[in-house]
Amino acid sequence: MFEQISAAPADPILGLTEAFKADPRDTKINLGVGIYKDEAGQTPILATVKKAEAILLESEKTKSYLSIEGNAAYGAAVQALLFGKASNIVSNKRARTAQAPGGTGALRIAAEFYASQFENKKVWVSNPTWANHNNVFAAAGLEIVQYNYYNADAKDMDFDAMLSSLEGAAAGDLVLFHGCCHNPTGIDPTEAQWQQLAALSAEKGWLPLFDFAYQGFGSGVEEDAKGLRIFTEANQELLVASSFSKNFGLYNERVGAFTLVAKCSDTAETAFSQAKSLIRANYSNPPAHGAAVVTTILNDAALYSEWDKEVAEMRDRIQQMRDLFVATLKEKGVDRDFSFIARQNGMFSFSGLTKEQVATLKDEHGLYIVGSGRISVAGMTRNNMDALCSAIAAVI
Ligand code: LMR
Repeated sequence: MFEQISAAPADPILGLTEAFKADPRDTKINLGVGIYKDEAGQTPILATVKKAEAILLESEKTKSYLSIEGNAAYGAAVQALLFGKASNIVSNKRARTAQAPGGTGALRIAAEFYASQFENKKVWVSNPTWANHNNVFAAAGLEIVQYNYYNADAKDMDFDAMLSSLEGAAAGDLVLFHGCCHNPTGIDPTEAQWQQLAALSAEKGWLPLFDFAYQGFGSGVEEDAKGLRIFTEANQELLVASSFSKNFGLYNERVGAFTLVAKCSDTAETAFSQAKSLIRANYSNPPAHGAAVVTTILNDAALYSEWDKEVAEMRDRIQQMRDLFVATLKEKGVDRDFSFIARQNGMFSFSGLTKEQVATLKDEHGLYIVGSGRISVAGMTRNNMDALCSAIAAVI
């Protein structure tokens, strides 16, 4: 039977990691997948994670199943991180959170929940967006519609074009926003633009879905929640898919959260029961360890403040790499203006390199970049900067 199956295309991001691993060149550099590297080129376990794991090793009493939605303390900690401890969403119990296997798992719950509960089947995503958004939404049976986001010539956001394309989004349509550190462009709406989008969403009656995978990698853990919090002021209902892969460095523990916000606690409870049914039929109940680590850190004032500093360190190092990248390209005689890279947020930037240039970088220089031209700045170090900038200079 299996002979009739044709091969699936390689994943544009994780498939690249497989190719990178198989590449025998010891000069190879991976700026494909969004994984933070320190100056030594390592992806370290955060000190606060190690401390939380030591606490858990001592205190954990059982490996029995969690409930379908996971640990309640985790849900509360996630909600405080998203909406702020003083938020009326928290005090009025308008939100329910399910511990999910990674941000992707959370997005899939959101997509399945939406697809199963509403007549509308359209989800609006930015052009461009994270490649896997399309897979997740298509797998849930949603129709994907793109809204304008990026002006490739200006290397900047095209907000007017974004607004005009979103005019086509109908009441009840699902509209995806990147909470901060837009993947792949690194360009986020300003506070005034978030206000405008939130007002438009409320006026049109969209269901906003926030993909929040980089909280803390833009300006700060609290600061990066601004867009989401502005939305919650104008919109009483929304969905959030959180990921703690990057800001806790818990990539392989698969820690995420699906959060549903409703007008009141009762409605939230009823709507959430449907999400729970979907989870039960999918992975039954979530893995425990990563979320227990996150909960331990978020609920301990000393660990929280140490973690906040660790996130700031990662954020600052990426920003330094942005500046160094722009300066090094200039030094190499590249006359194309790359200064936009220094102004962007988070792990990624859209380099403007063509598919052909990306292919040459891989084949001839062992430099791995996603086919769209997205580069993971988080993979740059002082040690690999010269080589990667020489390679880029050579192909431009
Ligand atoms: C990325 O965009 O590189 C990360 O979010 C990792 C992934 O799963 O694609």
